[in-house]
Amino acid sequence: METKIMKAAITTTARYLPEEVITNKDLERILDTNDDWITSRTGIRERRILRDPEKPTSYMCTEVARQLLDKRGISADEIDLIIVATMSPDMVFPATACIVQGNIGAKNAWGYDLSAACSGFVYGLYTGAQFIESGNCKKVMIIGADKMSSILDYTDRSTAILFGDGAGGVILEAASEEGYGVLDARLYSDGLNGKEHLLMPAGGSRLPASHETVDQHLHFIRQDGKQVFKAAVKAMADVAEEIMQRNHLTADTIDWLIPHQANQRIIHATADRMGLTEHKVMMNIEKYGNTTAGTVPICLAELDEQGKLHKGSNLVLVSFGAGYTWGGIYIRWQ
Ligand code: UT7
Repeated sequence: METKIMKAAITTTARYLPEEVITNKDLERILDTNDDWITSRTGIRERRILRDPEKPTSYMCTEVARQLLDKRGISADEIDLIIVATMSPDMVFPATACIVQGNIGAKNAWGYDLSAACSGFVYGLYTGAQFIESGNCKKVMIIGADKMSSILDYTDRSTAILFGDGAGGVILEAASEEGYGVLDARLYSDGLNGKEHLLMPAGGSRLPASHETVDQHLHFIRQDGKQVFKAAVKAMADVAEEIMQRNHLTADTIDWLIPHQANQRIIHATADRMGLTEHKVMMNIEKYGNTTAGTVPICLAELDEQGKLHKGSNLVLVSFGAGYTWGGIYIRWQ
């Protein structure tokens, strides 16, 4: 008898955003910037910050993981695998995924961190889906989280205004019916062009921490915004179009574009290429800025909470980030 391979479906979503808000006006007090510039160039009005030094990225992930278990009504020992997508792990090692696994007591789970910056969740979702489709795992937790405030240089106006702290996540399980779940994905990377334009120069084996690296602010994020902007506009729109063509999707049949939230202008360019009107584009950049790996799952959870995802909804997730890494995923909501 032929065994059917079921696709992986998202059965639960959750998000965690720290309470403290930093507005553009707040940033005006510490940087040579202004609300008008930030709003018109990026669409960001405020972002969240987890100031407590006792609460690293794993804290936000653990909050998400607990909510996921509660919402799904399962105990932690039912989780087989935990993937944490982050570029601000608690430490280089051990993996933040292991810390989360310990915090929630998921004694049957293994786990690891995935480093793909802003595309971390999209990469993680597709990776997790493979474990479900192969039948090796029944329940996989994918969490995207970044405590960007821990790697931001608050004296650099070109980056400090862009990012915020936050986390989101999902539980993946086998779809209950054929034709639903994670139906397609196209993932890409380009290290040749990407590696110099968006990075944290020090703290790894290339430039281990030293007095010099600290003095030179090399443990903070550095970005050549213009280069990244150009690459992001092209890559996000190209991959969105590719996902549409491969799956015979049209602007009419797509219910939601869930794009990475780095810049409102990049999102508009992607939506325009897809022929989508604004009401089909998930946008929360004005409230949270760019939460890196947290962004896409936070968007998903927000839509889910608002009751905007229905059985059969066609979702296109797209992201772009450091590496460069980018990708698109097509989900038919179950
Ligand atoms: O999530 C990972 C992927 N990241 C992205 O996708 C980010 C992509 N890049 C961007 O979103 C945009 O490039 C930025 C928002 C980062 C910058 O916007 P831009 O329109 O590319 O501005 P720019 O860097 O070309 O700077 C324009 C001007 C410059 O002044 P001059 O040289 O024209 O006098 C900057 O010095 O704006 C100045 N500027 C600022 N002014 C006020 C740069 N940052 C600021 C600021 N406030 N925060």
